[in-house]
Amino acid sequence: MGIYYIDGIFTDSDSATVSVNDLIVLRGYGVFDFLRTYNRKPFMLNEHIDRLLNSANEVFLKVNYSKDEIHDAVMETIKRNSQYSEMNIRIICTGGISSDGVTPEGNGKLLVMVTDKKDLPDIWYSNGVKVISERTERNIPNAKSTDYLSAVIAQRKAAKVNAVEAIYTDSRGFIHEGTTTNIFFFKENTLITTDNDILPGITRSVILDISKEKFSIELRDISYNEIGTFDEAFISASNKEIVPVVDFDGITIGDGKPGKNTLELIRIFREFTENYGRI
Ligand SMILES: Cc1ncc(COP(=O)(O)O)c(C=O)c1O
Repeated sequence: MGIYYIDGIFTDSDSATVSVNDLIVLRGYGVFDFLRTYNRKPFMLNEHIDRLLNSANEVFLKVNYSKDEIHDAVMETIKRNSQYSEMNIRIICTGGISSDGVTPEGNGKLLVMVTDKKDLPDIWYSNGVKVISERTERNIPNAKSTDYLSAVIAQRKAAKVNAVEAIYTDSRGFIHEGTTTNIFFFKENTLITTDNDILPGITRSVILDISKEKFSIELRDISYNEIGTFDEAFISASNKEIVPVVDFDGITIGDGKPGKNTLELIRIFREFTENYGRI
């Protein structure tokens, strides 16, 4: 059992509650962010809080806490959960209680929930994974709202065919991102990812930064028809880091094994996070 922060109060995770009248329950009206620790240090916490506040802004949700207050609440929650060596952290801003069940009244709550960070299967990183496509366009894609209905449905479809992720495609046949990941491709030494209608992943921004010196970078629309022409692919997210993709809807990427550039990026990314946790 862990300790959660519920709007100013630290409480056992088992007895942590929000009202059933909160708009987050009634209407899925809330925003959140998700990050992990390295060496118990929250990775890119400031960037995650900025994205959280931007998400709130995008959906007109009033947050009753400053950036510093959110930062302190996260740091104190980590401190109080000394039983975990590494943690996943969820920061949630709820829509708050509403008298008519739909109109926000500006009384939303701040929640910080930490859980034990479990390692993902090594085989994902050594052999690569399969992904499928899902025809869905996220509403307000640059906001991380708590409405993940499409993601839950798409992930269930992916699991049925042993895929680890579903990648959203739009009506024009462009590829955007996964349900909880961004997606990248390599064509020779050019790293390609889209800038359009995605959640700006924090992992994605670190990857683009550490890739600048090593690879050419193309930020552009990616058509579904191009998949077979790419040499390498991978997905990225806070909890997954960089996972090579070797099969996309049954189309083999490259030679069906994680590509050399992807493996090199995994190595550089791990070096980066190790250093981050050390400082
Ligand atoms: C829709 C979506 N895209 C991309 C990402 C990856 O973002 P990050 O690298 O910040 O974890 C997430 C993470 O949850 C997501 O939900």
